Amino acid sequence: MTPEEFRSAGHELIDWIADYRSNLEQRPVRAQIKPAGVRSAFSAQPPETPAPAAQLLRELEQKIVPGITQVQHPMHYGWFPSNASLASTLGDIASSGLGTLGISWESCPALTELEEVVCDWMRQLTGLSDNWEGCIQDTASTACLTALLIARESASDYSENRGGLQAEDKPMIVYTTEEAHSSVVKAALLAGFGRDNLRMVAMDSATRAMSAPALARQIEADFAVGNLPCAIVASVGSTGITAFDPVAEIVEIAAEHALWVHIDAAMAGSAMLLPEYRHLWDGVESADSIAWNPHKWMGTILDCSLFYVRDVQHLVRVMSTNPSYLRSTVDEEVKQFRDWGIPLGRRFRALKLWYHLGIDGIDAIRARLRRDLDNAQWFAGHVAQQEHWRVLAPVKLQTVCIRHEPPGLSGDALDRHTLGWVDAINQSGAAFMSPSKLDGRWMVRVSIGVEATTRAHLEKLWQLIQTQVSEVAAE
Ligand SMILES: Cc1ncc(COP(=O)(O)O)c(C=O)c1O
Repeated sequence: MTPEEFRSAGHELIDWIADYRSNLEQRPVRAQIKPAGVRSAFSAQPPETPAPAAQLLRELEQKIVPGITQVQHPMHYGWFPSNASLASTLGDIASSGLGTLGISWESCPALTELEEVVCDWMRQLTGLSDNWEGCIQDTASTACLTALLIARESASDYSENRGGLQAEDKPMIVYTTEEAHSSVVKAALLAGFGRDNLRMVAMDSATRAMSAPALARQIEADFAVGNLPCAIVASVGSTGITAFDPVAEIVEIAAEHALWVHIDAAMAGSAMLLPEYRHLWDGVESADSIAWNPHKWMGTILDCSLFYVRDVQHLVRVMSTNPSYLRSTVDEEVKQFRDWGIPLGRRFRALKLWYHLGIDGIDAIRARLRRDLDNAQWFAGHVAQQEHWRVLAPVKLQTVCIRHEPPGLSGDALDRHTLGWVDAINQSGAAFMSPSKLDGRWMVRVSIGVEATTRAHLEKLWQLIQTQVSEVAAE
């Protein structure tokens, strides 16, 4: 493809995307196809002859779009808001168009230095002190794995330079809760701790926040049997019910025993853009690493996870590689982000954050977050007032966990009722919410925060739910 052909096909694609985004509300929220529905639309054999760009655009519309669950749809309330602001989309396109190679400062100085700049802007915008330095990772899962790797090396005095974990005599222990995201368990297992050395600390029964006294007791018990407590992963806004572990108490306990504290604020980090919500991570300044995702509620297009540490030297010591072909004459003066995580090559991700902040602006982003917080309170208030409905967890941010509990229904019958009404709505394509288990029973998470979702959409959702529930009851 020549640059001129790119220009013409690119204009058509951008026009198509603009139309697609404008008309999103007319599409079903959940993809209305069965498994293999997309795969079977394509030939099993690779194409032998090239096709015009216009044909691919047609196939994008006809074969691929039906297989997309529309998470930018204003009636999408599933999982978490995964906003993809059009401003940041432009930055992502610029990143691809520039075709850069991020393997060292020298391979693209701008990539490294803009990443430094935007990470520091985001640090300031979330009220963190200048003790923190950050980079952009692909996901919070990778960031958590990186955090646990450096925690492991901190606790073991760099076991990687000896026999690694296999040569350590004391099992190293990681602490989190059942409420933590599955990526925390995955990271602990991949970092070699082993399931037996992962402690699920007791939680407050109402808030599902980690119990600090239980954490302290568990650490003491581990020391008493000769284990080596190593790291605590605290959830600042859990996925299930947006639980906030008590960071201030956790860091105090950790400090007594020199444990690493990683803050998983993947979802709720966006709320830290609002000064009035920062009390929810009080104590964060004494943690060791933080990850949060602008690619969720804030709305920078995937993938964009911020990872901050206080001790950069330690991070780099664990993660660095220095093959001769990557050396340059300025190595002493510059950052090499390959030494801040697992991959060598990185995309120019800072561009999408720069475009997002630059074009949309932080005031508008903050106003939208506050709108969603208000909407969540409004929605929770309506559900709580309605007979036989319950809001099951404190509404700390924008997620409302609800259940319809008609008289006489409990246990498995109540589960069938819950899944019955939510699945019917999800299948219809009119709206989408995530059923999820809380204390062993199904409930429904209404996660508010899509850029296009207004109060009117929430009114429509509440109507839709009530109609569906009465239809299920009448059957
Ligand atoms: C609290 C929390 N942690 C971690 C993750 C994983 O995020 P990522 O997809 O960036 O790995 C999520 C995603 O839902 C989350 O809500």
